[in-house]
Amino acid sequence: MGKLYSDLAVVYEAMYATFIDYLEEYNFYSKIINRYNKKNLLEIGSGTGNLASYFVKKSFDYQGLDFSKEMIAIAKAKVPNCKFIEGDMRNFKLEKPIQSIIMTGRTISYLVTNEDVKSTFLTVNKNLEKGGVFCFDFIDAYRFIPEIFNEKRITHKATYNNINYMRKSIWELNLESGMDVQWTSKYYKEVKNEWIEIGEDHANVRTFLKSELEIFLTINGFAIKDIIERKSYFFPTYVIVAEKK
Ligand SMILES: C[S@@+](CC[C@H](N)C(=O)[O-])C[C@H]1O[C@@H](n2cnc3c(N)ncnc32)[C@H](O)[C@@H]1O
Repeated sequence: MGKLYSDLAVVYEAMYATFIDYLEEYNFYSKIINRYNKKNLLEIGSGTGNLASYFVKKSFDYQGLDFSKEMIAIAKAKVPNCKFIEGDMRNFKLEKPIQSIIMTGRTISYLVTNEDVKSTFLTVNKNLEKGGVFCFDFIDAYRFIPEIFNEKRITHKATYNNINYMRKSIWELNLESGMDVQWTSKYYKEVKNEWIEIGEDHANVRTFLKSELEIFLTINGFAIKDIIERKSYFFPTYVIVAEKK
């Protein structure tokens, strides 16, 4: 993984709070959890705690898990009365099995090998109660790969606490082992009418086909309940809802 969730965690917090409507995210995911009548949940890749703050405010029994201690530090400062676990989604063990697990913001993109996907789905399965719900989003390869086939450059701007930020991204196809995308981004802050570079990030992110995730879920003990098309601030995505068999 690159620097976005470590050295640049503060910049992530500043920019994504303006790209993503977390209240809308909360409404979307809480509706699913309520529909299946689940009372407690774990969010994998809980980031800077933006969803956590809504779940805790609405009295859900919520806990977060993230790989990055920098992201967790921001989340803990934002939602002090909440449990955040520093851990790896490919291998973690909760104190006791839980009723639902969500993974949002296309966090699954960081599982670049099939072995990573398999160990994550197995770990999620082990940490869920029977009948527990696993819900996550992913970048749809079928729609995204043709979009960036000839390289795509995009600039995002955000204003947070009266500071202007800018990110210049380059998306390039990487077909070495799957349908991956090499994402290079430079981050800037406006100081006295000038854009000053504050960091650079390189990440290999994976896109998925619906059918391969259906296979991964089925062979790791899940039944697919729903696949929902959903547009994010930039990516064409689907959300899958699966149940532990
Ligand atoms: C795209 S961000 C999404 C954060 C948050 N869900 C949001 O929407 O703002 C991905 C998050 O996943 C975390 N992450 C990446 N790989 C991980 C792993 N193997 N285990 C746990 N967390 C991981 C990163 O540290 C980061 O906080």
